[in-house]
Amino acid sequence: MAAPSTPKRVVADVLRGESVFPPPVWLMRQAGRYLPEYRETRKRAGSFLDLCYNPDFAVEVTLQPIRRFGFDASILFSDILVVPHALGRDLRFEEGRGPLMTPMGVYDIERLDRSRFHETLAPVYETVRRLRAELPTETTLLGFCGAPWTIATYMIAGHGTPDQAPARLFSYRYPEAFRKLLGALADVSAEYLIRQLDAGADAVQIFDSWSGVLDEPSFSAFCVEPVQRIVSKVRSARPDALIIGFPKGAGSLYDDYRQLTGVNGLGLDWSVPLSQAKRLQAAGAVQGNLDPMRLVAGGRALDEGVDAILEGLGDGPLIFNLGHGITPEAPIAHVEAMLRRIRGAR
Ligand code: CP3
Repeated sequence: MAAPSTPKRVVADVLRGESVFPPPVWLMRQAGRYLPEYRETRKRAGSFLDLCYNPDFAVEVTLQPIRRFGFDASILFSDILVVPHALGRDLRFEEGRGPLMTPMGVYDIERLDRSRFHETLAPVYETVRRLRAELPTETTLLGFCGAPWTIATYMIAGHGTPDQAPARLFSYRYPEAFRKLLGALADVSAEYLIRQLDAGADAVQIFDSWSGVLDEPSFSAFCVEPVQRIVSKVRSARPDALIIGFPKGAGSLYDDYRQLTGVNGLGLDWSVPLSQAKRLQAAGAVQGNLDPMRLVAGGRALDEGVDAILEGLGDGPLIFNLGHGITPEAPIAHVEAMLRRIRGAR
């Protein structure tokens, strides 16, 4: 029996390699605009960044989906772009346009200012501490950061783009500067994750949402290497750290990514075939990978998607999730139907 000091947290257990059926479940972006209570708090908080940096509000919105659905994991409410913000880059979120930053030039890389990094992010650490105290003991608490490549795409373009052409071009024109940028981001991200773990996170996820736009050598240099650097820094400080990597769109390169980075869990997007997912699962936990549009559609599309994942991956270490974040138009009734189907599965 587990000692009282080591509470049973199923998502963490699966990350250590246990197979649990029915599998534990949480959703990327589970605190968000599809919930009326999120929209309400968001209005009271003011700007999106005010929400991220105010522990009262951030704790509140993190807990909302746990109260409503009892997900097995809770993910800290924040944004991946607080990291460049804490390095002195400006950041705003505009309604309907997403994040906006001043595009970064080569010489700005030397000027990144680490001196106030942890001070700026102190409210995030406070949010994690309060969450661990307020969450049900059996709920796994996840911290997170963006992977250096994905963070860099927003820093360079100054906004989201469909294929990250500005960052790709920058990486080829200024390879040395670009490598320096990724190295700096990897170092501060490792420190950021260590602080989240020390504040009470049970595991952390590294979001590389734009892995899928790179050719093979760039994937290796910009996605695999910086994440390897983060994982090795975190593990040398906290050897038991549980880490999920999510290189969205990595396709056939998922296999290399898992092997080379040594992450405990691998987040799969919905384009990954279940046969490939099964192979990846032989080396450790996988997380995913329902198409978020099946959740919006509901009915048969949802049921068939859920069943296929349970059937294909249910006998190994699986954390049920979407293949990317839940979208604002997903009906709450469909989230409930999905949970009933997963939890009722035998
Ligand atoms: O998952 C969770 O519930 C935790 C919170 C979370 C948010 N962003 C809140 C958020 C997490 C883990 C993120 C990560 C994030 N942020 C990523 C990686 C994952 C992914 O989705 O690919 C990226 C690329 C970002 C950058 C970002 N933040 C974008 C591109 C946008 C705009 C897109 C959109 O959906 O509007 C955001 C804003 C954002 N981050 C919102 C939320 C709930 C919506 C803003 C709002 O409430 O007005």
